[in-house]
This record gives sequence, C-alpha cells and structure tokens, in this order.
Amino acid sequence: MSIYFDNNASTAVAQEVLEEMLPFFRESFGNPSSMHSFSRNAGAALDCARKRVAQLLNSDAENIVFTSSGTEANNLALFGIAASHTGGRARFAESTSDNGHIITSSTEHGSVLNTCRELEKCGFKVTYLPVGIDGLLDPKELQNAICDNTFLVSIMVANNETGTVQKIKELANIAHSHNLIFHTDAVQAIGKMKVDVEELGVDLLSLSAHKIYAPKGVGALYIRKGIKIKPILFGGSHENHLRAGTENVPGIVALGKACEMITNNLQGDIDAMQTLKEYMIEKIEQSCPDALFNGSMIESLPNTLNVSFSELDSTSLVSLLDEQGVAVGTGAACKSATPGASHVLTAMQLEKKRRFAAIRLSLSKYNTLKEIDTFIEKITEILK
Ligand SMILES: Cc1ncc(COP(=O)(O)O)c(C=O)c1O
Repeated sequence: MSIYFDNNASTAVAQEVLEEMLPFFRESFGNPSSMHSFSRNAGAALDCARKRVAQLLNSDAENIVFTSSGTEANNLALFGIAASHTGGRARFAESTSDNGHIITSSTEHGSVLNTCRELEKCGFKVTYLPVGIDGLLDPKELQNAICDNTFLVSIMVANNETGTVQKIKELANIAHSHNLIFHTDAVQAIGKMKVDVEELGVDLLSLSAHKIYAPKGVGALYIRKGIKIKPILFGGSHENHLRAGTENVPGIVALGKACEMITNNLQGDIDAMQTLKEYMIEKIEQSCPDALFNGSMIESLPNTLNVSFSELDSTSLVSLLDEQGVAVGTGAACKSATPGASHVLTAMQLEKKRRFAAIRLSLSKYNTLKEIDTFIEKITEILK
C-alpha cells in the first residue's frame, strides 16, 4: 500500500483532467497559430482554457498569459516589470547602477528569491522582509521598507513549506497607497482557498498546473489591465506578444479543466482537506505528544502541516516512512537534496534541532482518514 502526503510538491493528474487533455496529443494536435481545422480546434481550446483560468481568478481572459511553469510566471512578473520600469530593457548587463528598489519576503519560493538575487546583480536593490516565528509577515514591515525608488512588491499568498497564509489584501493596499505594483505567487493557494484578484487587489498573480491535479510544465500569470510589462522570452507573437513559444496545448487544456473543477467545487474541496488536516492534528497530538507544529495554525492552508516529530532528522524520517510506503516531504521539493537548510524555517528563527527535524505533510482532496490512521501507526512505530 502506498500513501502520498506530498501534494505541495506535485499532485496526481485528475481523471477528468486527463480525459480532457488526451485529444490534444493525437487528434487536435495542430499548432494553434496555424490556419487549418487541426489548429482551429487547438486555438479554440486555448481560448476556453484561458476563460476557465480567468473565471477562477475573477479576471478577464485577456489578462491571462500561459507560461511553462509557476517558476516562469514568477520570472516573467519580476523581470518583466523590472524591464518595463527601466524603460524597456528586458535584459540587464551586470550593473551596480541604481535601477530601483523591489520588496519581497525572506520566505518566498526559490523562483522568486533567486530571481530577485539575479535582479540584484542587474543594479536593483532588493529588501527581503523578515517574518515572525509563525511565518507571518507584519504589514508594518512592508510599510517601513518602502523607499522613494521602490516600484515593485512581491509577496506569496501561501507558503509551500508551512502553508502559512499572508495578509495579501492588506499588503497590496499598502503597496498601492505608495503607487507600487503588487505581485503575488499564488501557486500553493489556488484550489485550497478563495483567490480572487479583485478582492485581493493584486496586479500580477502566478499559478502552476501541477499543484492542482493537472500536469507539470504549465503555469499562468495574471496581469491586471494597464500594468506595463515586458516579455522575457523573444520569438513569435504568442500570448499577446508577452511569451514567445508555441503553447503547450494539452497542458493548458488540462490547466483550464483543473481550474473549472476548482470553480465548481472549491468549498467542497476545502472542507474535505480541512477535515483530513484536523484529524491528522488530533491523531498526532494523541500519539506523538512531543511533536511541534511549525508555521501559523490559524492563517494556514487547509491541507498543509509542517511538523517536527522528534530529534530524528527529517531525511532519515522521510526515508524510513518511504520504506513503509508513505511519501512525505522535507520542505521545498527542489531542496530535498539539502536537508535542514530550509530558508523558510530559518527565517522563522526556529531552533536548529526543530528545523532539521521538520517534515511536511501536504494532503490532497483525494486522501482518506484511513490513510492518516496508517501513517500514524507507521510513524509511531518508527519513533519508538
Ligand atoms: C510557492 C511556489 N511557487 C512557485 C513554484 C514553482 O512552480 P513550478 O513547479 O510550476 O515551477 C512552486 C513549486 O513548488 C511553489 O510551491
């Protein structure tokens, strides 16, 4: 029997999503930019997917740009806005000149943090805001960090390692009161909470298909009408001149279907995950009284738990659980080669032992209470 509790790393493709995308491999496989019926079908499917993504976010289809991943959406948002800010230069020579100031947080995903580090090499100043022990960013920190030449703020909705959810509406309001552009990485939030670009008041928002029961290699960036942004890839005029490269039609169709499924049953999905999470917390508290939960337990995704069970380091625990047929994460999937080095738990100033012991349990709407019982049996045996 195998149990999968690593859904923040990636999800299985839903049956309905798979069925929707299959015809676009061998039947309607045309290039959406060509002029015959094969491509018309593909083009119509892109339009439909764009509408479905837009509907989920409460935006218009014309504001959605498809990308190859959440990572590319974040790169396009940050480099694209930076290029526009400096008068249209999309690539910047290594430079020490003062191109402007960007604010982000110290617990962002690598696709934002490392993009910001690249921008620093290109003459931009970046402030990485601290977070509290619960992983939450105090809006006053943002207020205090804004300078005369700040032009962009990027703060994630929900953290991939801890599930902690930031006060995006308040943060975006602060940014707008200083005429700054506000981007948010919503990759982990989509499908786990309501994400409405109007309610949140964000200007740009990134998402990724493989976290919401669609395949890997597809993402999207929402760009509010009127926001000036430059492309970071050059070639054809795809995606309204913002993202050159023939679109991944089957993947985009899948993303569209996944978004439609969320639109139709978001609250049901949230309730299912929240029930599982509460059961998991109760069982952990009963069976492993020394366990420590990391991150906010209030402002938190309904599917994510970050737990330090004992002093056993997380890589050993993950391997032992894997031998027992249970897949869990150590934090960011791309970081599993460097255990204990979680920049998120470090930024939260958790003590070293607790950081090194932390594992991430991220549930899907398809997990069951029985799987949680089995996990508890296995982990209590291992800890003994
Ligand atoms: C918060 C967050 N942002 C961005 C990404 C990157 O998305 P992708 O895997 O589609 O590049 C991830 C993936 O783990 C993530 O968790």
